[in-house]
Amino acid sequence: MDLGLNGRVAIVTGGASNLGRAITLGLATEGARVVIADVDDEQARKVAAEAPHGTVVARHTDVTNWDSVAATVAFARGEMGGSVDVLVNCAGWTIDRLFMEKPRSEWEREIAIDTWGFINSVRAVLDPMIERGHGRIVSIGSDAGRIGEWREAVYSGTKASVIAMSKAIAREVGKYGITLNVVCPGLIPGSPETSGRESVWASEQSQIFTPEAREKAAHAYPLRRLGTPDDVVPAVLLLASDRASYITGQTISVSGGYTMI
Ligand SMILES: NC(=O)c1ccc[n+]([C@@H]2O[C@H](COP(=O)([O-])OP(=O)(O)OC[C@H]3O[C@@H](n4cnc5c(N)ncnc54)[C@H](O)[C@@H]3O)[C@@H](O)[C@H]2O)c1
Repeated sequence: MDLGLNGRVAIVTGGASNLGRAITLGLATEGARVVIADVDDEQARKVAAEAPHGTVVARHTDVTNWDSVAATVAFARGEMGGSVDVLVNCAGWTIDRLFMEKPRSEWEREIAIDTWGFINSVRAVLDPMIERGHGRIVSIGSDAGRIGEWREAVYSGTKASVIAMSKAIAREVGKYGITLNVVCPGLIPGSPETSGRESVWASEQSQIFTPEAREKAAHAYPLRRLGTPDDVVPAVLLLASDRASYITGQTISVSGGYTMI
């Protein structure tokens, strides 16, 4: 199936690491031109260099900061011919810890990146998308946001809010040909080769998910394995494409059957 992504302009927040990296490279392989909007410039440039020549550019962006996000959208429009066709909200952050043991600073970081990052990024792309009468917004949620995951209380809340906000905004902007959908992965640990220094997988999170803990977790998945970043890419590409023009406000888990809602 030709997804019709050739020549489309996409912004991928958090596009430098793990899932975002795979999504960026997947979009570029389909012929899209991609702006990686990430705080990790070095890792973003590394991913841009892996993509077909000239298809991916790195642009320093802090999704928690409105001015930074608005400047990136203006950059994408100026650099790539006026439009932004696709936004993939992939920047995210958490560390698994019991609610009773978690410091406030970690809740605040989760809410800043996962909730405000979504709000800032979506609001900033809606102006050009409405102007154009076309847009695809795909957000990376989490199965945590569907079930309320153990040791992920506030993070589950931020991801549930991404799902609910996507539905509410989808109702509002559908008349302009803009769709919003959410893809919910399960556990997909990053590797040192494909994760940046700002990645959760370069933090304590990696020590929490030891090889033994990962093996144990895989038993909770009907398909009996954890996911890989490449597992998530096809669903994101489809929802980012014109082939999905009649799908909006939906949430799809790509998690080996971990949740079935
Ligand atoms: N990997 C998993 O197990 C898993 C499971 C479910 C959902 N998710 C979600 O998928 C998304 C990607 O996860 P991942 O494992 O690839 O994460 P990751 O930590 O490896 O990558 C996140 C990227 O976001 C960037 N980033 C962090 N703060 C930012 C900010 N303020 N502004 C812009 N960029 C920022 C980082 O530099 C990094 O490149 C996240 O939204 C995460 O919540 C991941």
